[in-house]
Amino acid sequence: MTFNANEFDAKEVVGNDRKHVWHHITQHKPFEENDPMVIVKGEGMRVWDAKGNEYLDAVSGAVWTVNVGYGRTEIADAVRDQLVTMNYFAQTAGNVPAAQFAERLIEKMPGMSRVYYSNSGSEANEKAFKIVRQIAEKKYGGKKHKILFRERDYHGTTITALSATGQYERKNQYGPFTPGFVEVPHCCEYRSQWGDVEDYGIRAANEIERVILEEGPDTVGALCLEPITAGGGVIEPPQGYWDRVQEICKKYDILLHIDEVVCGLGRTGKWFGYQHYGIKPDMVTMAKGVASGYAAISCTVTTEEVFAAFKEDDDARMGYFRDISTFGGCTAGPAAALVNMDIIEREGLLDNVVEQGEYLRGRLNQLMEKYDVIGDVRGKGLFAGFELVKDRETKEPVDESLPIQIGAHCMQNGVIIGRTNRSFKEYNNTVCLSPALIATQADIDKIVDAIDNALAELAPNA
Ligand SMILES: Cc1ncc(COP(=O)(O)O)c(C=O)c1O
Repeated sequence: MTFNANEFDAKEVVGNDRKHVWHHITQHKPFEENDPMVIVKGEGMRVWDAKGNEYLDAVSGAVWTVNVGYGRTEIADAVRDQLVTMNYFAQTAGNVPAAQFAERLIEKMPGMSRVYYSNSGSEANEKAFKIVRQIAEKKYGGKKHKILFRERDYHGTTITALSATGQYERKNQYGPFTPGFVEVPHCCEYRSQWGDVEDYGIRAANEIERVILEEGPDTVGALCLEPITAGGGVIEPPQGYWDRVQEICKKYDILLHIDEVVCGLGRTGKWFGYQHYGIKPDMVTMAKGVASGYAAISCTVTTEEVFAAFKEDDDARMGYFRDISTFGGCTAGPAAALVNMDIIEREGLLDNVVEQGEYLRGRLNQLMEKYDVIGDVRGKGLFAGFELVKDRETKEPVDESLPIQIGAHCMQNGVIIGRTNRSFKEYNNTVCLSPALIATQADIDKIVDAIDNALAELAPNA
């Protein structure tokens, strides 16, 4: 056997990694002097590196993905059984787990109807963008092709997904971008663009209408939003926002695309983030937590009405959705997703997220009382963030070096936390937490205690 997950020379692995692997979103200069971290094992909420260090993972695989935790043998067993029976056939044909998972997923999404499979959040969003563009061609002579996105939201790494991303530092040096994507203002009340206003949520939503009117409503096909902005700083839209957004979309015949890549599959205490706000989307995209990282899978889910636009067209040659994703036909993804969903249901993880999420926010609010450097605590369910500021009055953000140091301090004490990372120069000041949905009160205590210790050393009150 050429590979055995449990038998390897750790030194050799780290050496090979250091020599040949290009890590994601990482400056490699320090690896000229130091070894990169190589993760070799995971169990529950814990991971171990090649040097034998144990960590409590407060960010579900660094990027809010491993929702049901590490080491789930029942997912691995189901994937193995599926792979030896039937590993792959292009999704031009159906397969067993894809059909079964689609049925289970749609059950959880009243009003939605069709599931289109691909491999990553970026790709799922690209499919939605292509759907909008093709509907524009079919119904509006190509005119209603523009897609609105929100400042501070992230929709992925490909050039077009980045074109739809409201984080200028993340986009910096990767242009020129795909035309037809237009930014609308963010809705982070703590960073209100209009000072202290009573109806901030409505005001922020009305800004979307302003942009639509400026662009011309007959040119705007869709609005793409995260239900709660994730990497842009954990921002829950304020009261009144979503109702007004839906009114605006209806008024101007604009499709509403909700990006659930982070919030989907339980992160916020419901199956999907949008379900907290009475939103009726036309398209929903999801990825990370769908199979908790046990296999690559993403889904672009649409209403029957969106789907029907491609079926009822009388141009049988060109009128259907002429898109394919080779690995969207892999059966491992939906097989893993089926068991992932079973686990969330059987273990009552949505309830756990609500309960532990409240506990987590309570503890973070206590930290805010203790440290002036915390300006705002935000989040929903097991999805939380807090902003670090130089001064609570002026809200001037700290330099990104502070959250970096806090992360390093926690890591040294065996806890992995997250932060906004080169998204926008001013606001790389948010510490982010997204522990697995299985987190216990003891896990939360360990995470918050590590942050407490870091703040005591790095940012004590003056
Ligand atoms: C909200 C959101 N959408 C899309 C993506 C892109 O997903 P992927 O990295 O799987 O392409 C991400 C990734 O972090 C995300 O946070």
